[in-house]
Amino acid sequence: MKFDIITIFPKVITEYLTVGVLSNAIKKGIVEVNVHDLRKWTKDNHRSVDDTPYGGGPGMIMKIEPVYDAIKELKKQNTVVALTTPKGEELNQKKLMEYSENTDLHMIILCGRYEGFDQRIHDNLVDYEFSIGEYVLSGGELPALVLVDGISRLLPGVLGNEESLVSESFNDGTLEYPQYTKPEEFNGWKVPDVLLSGNHKEIASYRQSLKKSV
Ligand code: ADE
Repeated sequence: MKFDIITIFPKVITEYLTVGVLSNAIKKGIVEVNVHDLRKWTKDNHRSVDDTPYGGGPGMIMKIEPVYDAIKELKKQNTVVALTTPKGEELNQKKLMEYSENTDLHMIILCGRYEGFDQRIHDNLVDYEFSIGEYVLSGGELPALVLVDGISRLLPGVLGNEESLVSESFNDGTLEYPQYTKPEEFNGWKVPDVLLSGNHKEIASYRQSLKKSV
């Protein structure tokens, strides 16, 4: 599975890719993530990626030319071109699972900035517009990472313990039960007795009773 992330702040993305589950997935060759600076596709001296809106109004709009050239260079036959926007379809676990099932997936993710993209980008160049929630962030870098992380960790061989996916929150429509580790007591706060009992049947029914439905 391959992701090409286009951003004006590549550093934000690359740092996250160096730690934890995603870093392992990349090292194992299960996912490939390439990060591109959108300014690479600018042609003017100022390397501009944004400009003022026609008709007036506040803020700056992301220009179509560098985005068009970037997609033209990176897009293959079956590429999904995704774009981050608070107005997009809200991301959820079901969608992440759908994408994770397509192991040949190649996705280009365009990270929004400023007041958004020139509408012609939405209309002509993009297949999937997604939001990570009903709030507005200052850019699409975090949403892009959310998408890549959320898909990658579902791929076979990425998480060390496949078991952790099976019982995991959301996948079975429930939120996981509370977990504890050593010490048995801290600051007067105790681990529930049933978890120390060694009685697997009781532990299982205790955990089941504390799962919340979503
Ligand atoms: N850009 C700004 N806010 C966003 C959000 N909530 N989801 C996706 N992209 C965004």
